[in-house]
Order: sequence, then C-alpha cells, then structure tokens
Amino acid sequence: MYMNEMTAVTDTEIAPTKAKPTLPDAQTVTAVKHWTDRLFSFRVSRPASLRFRSGEFVMIGLMGDPDPNTGKQKPLLRAYSIASPAWDEELEFYSIKVQDGPLTSRLQHIQPGDEIILRPKPVGTLVHDALLPGKNIWFFATGTGFAPFASLLREPETYEKYEKVIITHTCREVGELEYGRKLIEDLKQDELMIELLGEENLAKIHYYPTTTREESPRMGRITELLQDGTVFKDLGIDPINPADDRAMVCGSLAFNKDMQTTLEGFGLREGANSDPKEYVVEKAFVG
Ligand code: A2P
Repeated sequence: MYMNEMTAVTDTEIAPTKAKPTLPDAQTVTAVKHWTDRLFSFRVSRPASLRFRSGEFVMIGLMGDPDPNTGKQKPLLRAYSIASPAWDEELEFYSIKVQDGPLTSRLQHIQPGDEIILRPKPVGTLVHDALLPGKNIWFFATGTGFAPFASLLREPETYEKYEKVIITHTCREVGELEYGRKLIEDLKQDELMIELLGEENLAKIHYYPTTTREESPRMGRITELLQDGTVFKDLGIDPINPADDRAMVCGSLAFNKDMQTTLEGFGLREGANSDPKEYVVEKAFVG
C-alpha cells in the first residue's frame, strides 16, 4: 500500500482507538514441518535488526488467553534455541509438542502466514566465544537439544576453528532422530551449503546418533558410551582430553548434569562467555 506522510500521521492518530491487528514483536511463520507426533520445526521471518551468534536462544511465544477478570492478554513466552545459522534470512526453531503444555499445545497448530511473538534479544552460552581454541569440537544433544547444533553445524566458523566436528544425538526412538539426520544429509548434498561451507569442511562432520528405547544400529545413552570408550572406538578418535577437545552440551537437566560429570572426568572444565574454557552447557527447552 502506498503510504505518504499524511496517511502515516493519520494512522498514528487513530491507533489508540483501533484494535491492534498484530502482536507485539510479531514475526510471520513461513514454513512448518511435523517430524513425529511429538516434534515439529518451523521457520519465521527475521527482524531486520536481529543480530545473533549461532547457538544462541531467544524468547518466543503466543498471546495468552484473556484474564477472566480483566480481559487483558499477556504474552506466553519460552526460551527457544535458534536452529538456523546467523547468516540465514529467516529464523528456524525445533520444538516438542506437549499436549497439555501451555505454549506448545497451541504453538503446534501454527500455519504459514500466522504470527508468533519473538523478543529480539538473543543470549546463550553455546557459542564459540565461550570455548578456548582446540582441535575437535563435540556437540552432545538429546531430543530437541539438537536445535542449537542445527545452527552451529551450518556456521562457517565451526569449520574454521576445528579439524573434527562430532555431533552425537540420543533419543528414545528412531523417528526422533530424523530432523537431525536429514539436516546433516542435506548439508552434505545441498550445492549452496557445499559452496558456503566447503566440501572438505563438511567431511569434518562425524554424526553419532543413538537410541535408548527403540532398536537401531547404535543403542545406549551417550554418557555410558563415552565412559566405556565405545564412542571413541566406533569413530576411530582418541579419547576426549583437555588439550584437544572442546564440547557443547544441550539436553534435559539430568542429561546435562551427567554430561558435566562425564566431561569433567576427561579433565574438561566448564566455560562461559566471559571466561572461556573447554566445555559449555545449556538446558534444552522442555514443554
Ligand atoms: P533413556 O531412554 O534411557 O531415558 P528425554 O525424552 O527423557 O528427555 O530423553 C531423551 C534421551 O536422552 C533419551 O534417549 C534418554 O535415555 C536420554 N537421557 C535422559 N536422561 C539422560 C541422562 N541423565 N544421561 C544420559 N542420557 C539421558
């Protein structure tokens, strides 16, 4: 629509009496894909001003139901890792669907063209700046904890900084691995990604998916497979050590805690943005 100064002024003047058609910090959904009955991913428009580092998260959500007394609506927001890389024009998110979850019970029904709320204030510890230089980077994920690594696996800096990029993903069932499996397969086949990241860089990726409750070629909790050395034998890689290895962890609280113990057992220390060390941890969004 053509807008001149006059219409702009008029709009401003009548705005307070008119119901606002859009949400605050609204972004438009551009694509939705359902992976299982418990998992889906979606893409939304990116605010022009939003700068973030691959691996960070933002608060996103929908407007809550009206308060029965006042009729007022408040935004219902949750932390979501941005699953797309920093260079992408759009933003991607990977989410669980919880049937009685206040947000995801509704969010799972979004369609292209719908709006969501996105607070453009990215934060997080799963960033390259929080780690000291090293030879190998390990990404350890369970469930939707794969999301920040979906961003970092598409980030050129990951390959500039490391010789090997090892991504482990543990889920209960095979279907829950599909988002990550497909993303890595596409990375290695997509001409644009090959051009952007380099074929020799993509060859640095070692993908190690495991399941715990459904039969698959590799079974077991990654914590146990690390502690008994199975992972290193399978991948033909030296055991994790503080001189060569850096790690990022994203999963449930219990998983993160056990991974911390496991990594500390290999001599790695936890870092932060202001104090880079050998590994960093972040809780995946749950429910
Ligand atoms: P398991 O099936 O043995 O519990 P969830 O859906 O509960 O978040 O779990 C996702 C995956 O992470 C499952 O395969 C689960 O294995 C695994 N997992 C959960 N907690 C831990 C933990 N403390 N250490 C290692 N793996 C875990």
